[in-house]
Amino acid sequence: MNATDPALQDEDPLGLYTRGAGRAREWWRVSPSGRAHMYRIEHGQGEDGAVGEVDIDTEIDLDNLEAKLLKWRREGFVSEAQRADEARAAQAGSAFSVALQRAVEAACEAKAAQVRLQTHTPFVRIGNVDLPRGEPNALVPRVNAAYLFTGRGGDIVQDIVENRRVMLIGHTGSGKTSFIEQVAARAGYGVLRANMNGQTTIGDFVGFWTVKGGETIWVDGVLPVAMREGYWLIIDELDFAEPSILAVLTAVLEPNGRLLLKERGNEIVEPHPSFRLFATANAAGAMSAYRHLYQGANLLNEAFLDRWRVYLFDYLSLEEETEVLLRTLPVITRQLAHTLAAIAADCRAAFAREDLASAFSTRRLIDWAELMLRTGDVERAAGPAIYAKVSADDAALIRSVIRHHVIFDA
Ligand SMILES: Nc1ncnc2c1ncn2[C@@H]1O[C@H](COP(=O)(O)OP(=O)(O)OP(=O)(O)O)[C@@H](O)[C@H]1O
Ligand SMILES: [Mg+2]
Repeated sequence: MNATDPALQDEDPLGLYTRGAGRAREWWRVSPSGRAHMYRIEHGQGEDGAVGEVDIDTEIDLDNLEAKLLKWRREGFVSEAQRADEARAAQAGSAFSVALQRAVEAACEAKAAQVRLQTHTPFVRIGNVDLPRGEPNALVPRVNAAYLFTGRGGDIVQDIVENRRVMLIGHTGSGKTSFIEQVAARAGYGVLRANMNGQTTIGDFVGFWTVKGGETIWVDGVLPVAMREGYWLIIDELDFAEPSILAVLTAVLEPNGRLLLKERGNEIVEPHPSFRLFATANAAGAMSAYRHLYQGANLLNEAFLDRWRVYLFDYLSLEEETEVLLRTLPVITRQLAHTLAAIAADCRAAFAREDLASAFSTRRLIDWAELMLRTGDVERAAGPAIYAKVSADDAALIRSVIRHHVIFDA
């Protein structure tokens, strides 16, 4: 019997293969032939149930049948067994969605109940999330009134409420650090920053003993200071951190994780309830493909990344960046802001195609626009803001993008 052909044990090829619906429905049928290792194939058109007229009826061997099956699959024919599987999957999928939706509603209700319990706490609303206000202190960043909160931030603010560890990854100047700073500025939390790109030692980070006035004293590093005082700590460029710093961090990454200061006779530092930990990285996780652009960046392993909520920060969209330019420099027209944002968008597209080696950050765009307002000269402003920072090839390409927009967007 052909169905027991050893070559076909995985998948029974017998049955109906169909594509299209209604009168346009077309089918192939594979059935056993009377001869060993041979198959009968028939072709026809007709609505469900009706076989209609059979226009091909022939016998082929296994090799030919396999070629046909491949061809039919490419042409969009689907076996009945597969259709039944898909129907079952769709039903299971919808049952899953209903269960998930119920769980989401229950979680929202639980959260709302918690908020109702804390009505004495003042909140500040960012996007659609209520964040409890912090105590005013000297380390609260200044509010940037031009800052635009976009859709990419909502989940992160909720993570902050829930005391999750948040890592933002993305190209330079895509707005990672400023996002955290601006949330802290609105909600009133002090921010400390530690940059891992060559400047921060384990001593700076955790603390060290020193001699002062003949006395040996302990100086807390940035991590215990933030944990004790309830500041938000942003670890910038975490993918450049020394292994010893990553090792210390791992313990603190658990929710309410405590810090063990071995150098101080195993003193335990408990996190203040307001303490939050953030990291930014250019080339970690989903950004690893760009490691060649951020020389010296280390690959953060998955076990370490799993201790964070990792968000990919893309550059702002053309519309969002136009809005940011208008808010930052209210004297420019929307048309002008749009042209400048379009130049940045084109340069980023060239960067993604690897035609340009340098990324075009929002920081660079704003800086260029500010210089342009001072000099009144697009090219002169582009010198120190752009051209002098990139290779001669990149400068030439960016110059041509700028010329094109300046001439044609007027
Ligand atoms: N949503 C926004 N609204 C207003 N300005 C923004 C926004 N996003 C980014 N910017 C501007 O872009 C500048 C650069 O952003 P930021 O320093 O946060 O980037 P970054 O991703 O941390 O860069 P790097 O990887 O180089 O540290 C900010 O100082 C700010 O002026
Ligand atoms: Mg940054």
